[in-house]
Order: sequence, then C-alpha cells, then structure tokens
Amino acid sequence: MNFELTINPIDKTEAQLEIILVVDKDFDHRFVKDKKLLEKASFKAEQDETCLLIERDRLYIGIESIGSENMRTAIASGIRRVKSTPYKSIKIASYMNHQKCTAVIRAMVEGFILGAYSFDRYKSKKSELNIEDIIISLEDYREFELDIKACAIALEKGQISAEATNFTRDIVNTTPDDCYPKIMADIAKKLAKSNNLECHILKPKELKKEKMKTLLAVARASRHKPRVIHLAHKPKNPIATVSLIGKGLTYDSGGLSLKPSDFMVTMKSDKSGASTVFGIIKAVSELNLPIEVHGFVGAVENMIGGDAYKPDDVLVAKNGKTIEVRNTDAEGRLVLADTLCYAQQEVKADYIFDFATLTGASVVGVGQYTSSIMGFNDEVKDKVLKYAKSAGEFATKLDFNRYLKKTLKSQIADICNISNTRYGGAVTAGLFLSEFIDDEHKDKWVHIDIAGPAFVEHRWGENPSGASGAGVRMITRFIEGLLRENSKEKNQ
Ligand code: BES
Ligand code: ZN
Ligand code: ZN
Repeated sequence: MNFELTINPIDKTEAQLEIILVVDKDFDHRFVKDKKLLEKASFKAEQDETCLLIERDRLYIGIESIGSENMRTAIASGIRRVKSTPYKSIKIASYMNHQKCTAVIRAMVEGFILGAYSFDRYKSKKSELNIEDIIISLEDYREFELDIKACAIALEKGQISAEATNFTRDIVNTTPDDCYPKIMADIAKKLAKSNNLECHILKPKELKKEKMKTLLAVARASRHKPRVIHLAHKPKNPIATVSLIGKGLTYDSGGLSLKPSDFMVTMKSDKSGASTVFGIIKAVSELNLPIEVHGFVGAVENMIGGDAYKPDDVLVAKNGKTIEVRNTDAEGRLVLADTLCYAQQEVKADYIFDFATLTGASVVGVGQYTSSIMGFNDEVKDKVLKYAKSAGEFATKLDFNRYLKKTLKSQIADICNISNTRYGGAVTAGLFLSEFIDDEHKDKWVHIDIAGPAFVEHRWGENPSGASGAGVRMITRFIEGLLRENSKEKNQ
C-alpha cells in the first residue's frame, strides 16, 4: 500500500473509492452525500460499522468521535470491508479538527496497514489485497497552520510502526515446526542485515560458558537446540540506552507438567515476547531514533522426553541463585531469569523492559485484551501506560507486595519456580523475575505480561484473529517519547 498526502480538496482528488467517516448519526455533515441510501441500508453509523455503496464508489464508516483509537479501529474495519473488492485506490479526508491532528493521521495509516493484515502462509488460496494507493486529503486542515511536513512525518511513523507490528504477527503465527530457536536466530540475522543492526547468536556451547543453566534445562528435551539472540541498534551519540528482553518459547507443551490438550493449542504463541522485541527493534531502527536499543531473546522449546528437566530438580541460574522446580510449565520465568542476567551483564541500560506470555493468571485477572505492567518504578510504569494508550493498546498496573513475595519461598533452594498459593499468579511470576534483576537495575526494570493480548482467536479492533503484535507500538512509542522528553529538557 502506498500512501500519499495532498492539499487538494477531497472532491478534486482522483481515486476509485472514497471513504467517508460518519460522526453525526443524523448524517448532517457535508461529506455525507448519500443520506437517503444510508437510511435505506439501515446504516446506524455505530463505531466501526461499515456501509459500502458500490454504485456510488463510496464506503461509509461509523466513528463515535475523531480521536486516534476510534480512527484506528474504524479504518481497520473499513479496509477489511473493501480489501478484496476490485478497487485499487482510495481517497479519504484527514478529519483533523483539533490540534492533535498528526496523531490522528498516524492512527489512520496504522488502521489501514494493521486492518489489511492477514496471515495466509498455510492457505492454498492467498487472500487478495487489491488496494494499492491511499490518498489522504488535508483540506480540512486549512483553518490551522498547514504543516504538511509534520503530517508526512506522522504518516511515515504510522507506516513503520504498523509494519513492524505485522512483522511480529507473522513470526508469532508461524507454526512450531516452521519456527524453532534456530529459525528465530535466522529471523534476527536477516533483520540485522536489512536494518543495519549488530547481531550475536549464542549456541549451546556459549550458553554453557555463560552459565545459563536454567535456560538449558528447559531446552533439554527438545530436538531443537536453544539460542540466545542479541540484536543491537547502535546510533552515534545516543541519548539513552534501552534493553528489551523477550520470552521466546517457540513451543510450550508444559514439559513433564504437561498441559492438558485444550491448553496446549495456541502455545506456538509463547514466542510472542521475543517476536515483540524483534518488532520494536525493527521500528526503532527504521525510525532512526538516536537511542541505543538492545534486544535479548531466549529462544527455547519446552518438550517432554527422557532427557526432560523435572519437577523436584534444583537449577542454578546465571546469577548463582538456586531454583526449586515444582512445575515445568512455569518455564518462561526460568528462561527469562538467565536471559535477564545476561542482558544486564552485557549492557548497562537506562530502561529494561521484558515481554512475555508469562501467565494464564494475567489473562484471568485483566482479560484477554490487556497487558499487565509490573515493576518497582511507578513513574516508568505510568509512562508505559500513557504510551500504551496513545498506541491504542490496553495495559494496566499490577502491584507487587511482600506477602506475595513470601509465597515463592523454597525449603531446599533459594526460591521456587511457582508460588504456594493459587492466587495472584501474574504478580508472583513478576516477583520471581525480580530476583534476577540486580539492585542497581531495580528501578529501571518493567515487566510486561502480554499473555492476554498477544494471541486472541477472534478479531478485535485493528487486530486479526491470532497474533496481534502486542507491545510493539506501546514500547516503540515509549522510546520515541525519550527523544521528545530530551529535546524538551534542552529547551528549558
Ligand atoms: N506460556 C504459559 C502462559 C500462558 C497461558 C500464556 C495462557 C498464554 C496463554 C506459561 O508458560 C505457563 O504455562 N504458565 C503457567 C504457570 C503456572 C504453572 C504457575 C500458567 O499460567 O498456568
Ligand atoms: Zn508454560
Ligand atoms: Zn510458557
């Protein structure tokens, strides 16, 4: 899809199809030219509702009010409606009626790209996308100072962040037989090459040397050997350094604490955290942000077999802490424990984010659509919430407390890999991870449990059934925000 901005009024813009957003349910806006037909078609102009008038070459979409989130989902539902029609070009007005107009343009572009996404790698018949050109008319913008450049930048940012999200979705949706740790490493290498990133892959030999014994234990029963992947975007004179750590379970069968069949399906999505890290680093490098960003991924398959690690084993993590394994299905935290230690050893970052489909408890607690945000620094967590909102992602804080911490105590080792209570599982998993964050980094770390939104088996908003790319736009925006805050400080 190509995007173009024009200052021509919408009526003077050439395209095969016009998209018209309808805020006013009485159809009184001057853009609404088919009032009678819309009434006849019982179009109610509800948010995301579409009405395609083929004879008129117009697609009407309902929107409650003009704002980023509404815009993104309305456009996504519109593009889905016309995706496989023969139309090749679309024109749409920019609907910028307030100062935050560039954010709305960005959301519109994101809506087009995210809504047009489909995963058909395994379909004999691929879904068609005939739409080639999208022309956005800035005519409504006339009343304000026309800043085409700001709009063009917003458009490009939208394209980059949405395409990075789709990149993540593709990886997550790929099946475990086609995407195992070595393939994750290949994806990283390819990304490094195209985006000018540094890339270092650790294979079992190096992992042993690095004393990443908990990660190796989880990986042991699989025929696919584990990898730890380090990607880095290193601009000259960076204003900050960010480390991103991702859980990359290319399959989670549960191990010997085997998952019931119903719970095992969709566990190809247990590599979502890792895939999100790839997506963010892709976006950040394409946005050319002057921020050093490191991605660390623990890519492992959790399987059963004669060589499997067992409940009752005691493992020694990279930082020397001993862990009593009481459930081999709580494997993500074991993989992350070593990967977090490795990331802190390699890079002294200003911010450390980890992404993981870590607990079913997060999904039970906050629902399928929301990520759980944990950590010790309220200021950073609040900033994450703010950027999640502006990216159109749902996120909410879950608080730590010392009583839940005690539930991880072990009689024979430093800590257990599961808690002794059935309540608060998302928080106790986060508290487990905190044991592997050095004191000097405690305030820099935020844990993001994406178990809910990373993979949902129905369409929601701009997301298709399957992988959503949760976390990509949220933290890309956070990293962009560092640049903005920095220049504000300088101007003060
Ligand atoms: N990958 C799962 C968590 C998960 C569940 C992600 C549902 C997405 C959807 C994780 O490894 C796991 O199995 N966690 C266990 C932990 C338990 C054994 C303490 C869980 O949540 O049940
Ligand atoms: Zn598990
Ligand atoms: Zn898992």
